[in-house]
Amino acid sequence: MSQAKPPFALPMRTLRTVGELRAALAPDRRAGLKIGLVPTMGALHEGHLSLIRRARRQCDRVVVSLFVNPAQFNERSDLEHYPRREQHDTDLAATAGADLLFVPSVEEVYPAGFATSVEVLGVTERLEGAARGSAHFRGVTTVVTKLLGMALPDIAYFGQKDAQQVVVIRHLVRDLNLPVQIETCPTVREPDGLAMSSRNALLTPDERARALALYGALSAAAEHAWSGERSAEALLDTARAAMAPFAVEPEYLALVDPDTLEPVTRLDESALLAVAAHVGAIRLIDNITIHATVPSSRGESHRSTNATGLDGNCGVTDPQIPTSHILRQAISSKEPATCSA
Ligand code: PAJ
Repeated sequence: MSQAKPPFALPMRTLRTVGELRAALAPDRRAGLKIGLVPTMGALHEGHLSLIRRARRQCDRVVVSLFVNPAQFNERSDLEHYPRREQHDTDLAATAGADLLFVPSVEEVYPAGFATSVEVLGVTERLEGAARGSAHFRGVTTVVTKLLGMALPDIAYFGQKDAQQVVVIRHLVRDLNLPVQIETCPTVREPDGLAMSSRNALLTPDERARALALYGALSAAAEHAWSGERSAEALLDTARAAMAPFAVEPEYLALVDPDTLEPVTRLDESALLAVAAHVGAIRLIDNITIHATVPSSRGESHRSTNATGLDGNCGVTDPQIPTSHILRQAISSKEPATCSA
């Protein structure tokens, strides 16, 4: 579905240098237009497009950056195999309403002599930071700081799919007094619940079916919480048990405070349940916010993002979240649910 651009908007332009980007945005900034930035690493899917559409609704100019950032990859093979589809991304970004697609080269972002890094301490040391090492978030925060400096957006858009990344970026912006508003958009899922990810394209059909283990774990724990369970240990046991039939081992599975990412022992109001796992060679992550009370929309057939305890502040409706019986069926028959994509 394409979003309407402002009247007289020009077709999307692809820019490759910081100079071109600055020159393109300077008149808009002087005219007081609101600029939105959606940083991505490309291989765009509906998750990315939901951010672009959100930016289109809120801003006068929408910049989408497409840069596979070598600094945040902790495994060389992951970087080498990361999907790159610039033409496909160009078409999708234009249709979703982007005005400018910024596609810098590695040399443009990290020219010879580049010697600065930006590091957020504390919240980067848990979950993904613990699993992938400190270089990962240092790479993310350095490139995001640079992209914010290059585009100087009023608003930058990030997905709840990478919940820790949002926490880290909010810290970064607060700590460095960066004049940008951070918007978090809900996780967009495949109809069977798998969180959309550029890496999903690398899954074999068998792995694609087994990848449902992550969402199965999250939704099983959310349901257990709605039935009244408050113990983190019990909820984590439920989540782990839901993964077993898929023969997928969590790399981490943790119930944490949504702001500090410190583990919680009890679910009081809400907590973030985060999981990472390898399915074959592909590493996937997912999370939901688990609420102690049953969300009011539970039971509707076409449910919105918070129907499974997911939240976000974008108001974008996810595609249909699977009813939990699909997962239960898959788990009880020890057969991963049929893939839909
Ligand atoms: P990338 O993985 O391409 O994701 C770009 C943005 O899209 C991130 O904010 C991510 O959280 C969001 N996103 C990805 N999948 C999503 C989904 N299923 N639903 C909603 N949002 C989703 O995250 C990065 O790139 C990089 O770390 C980046 C911030 C660009 C820095 O290099």
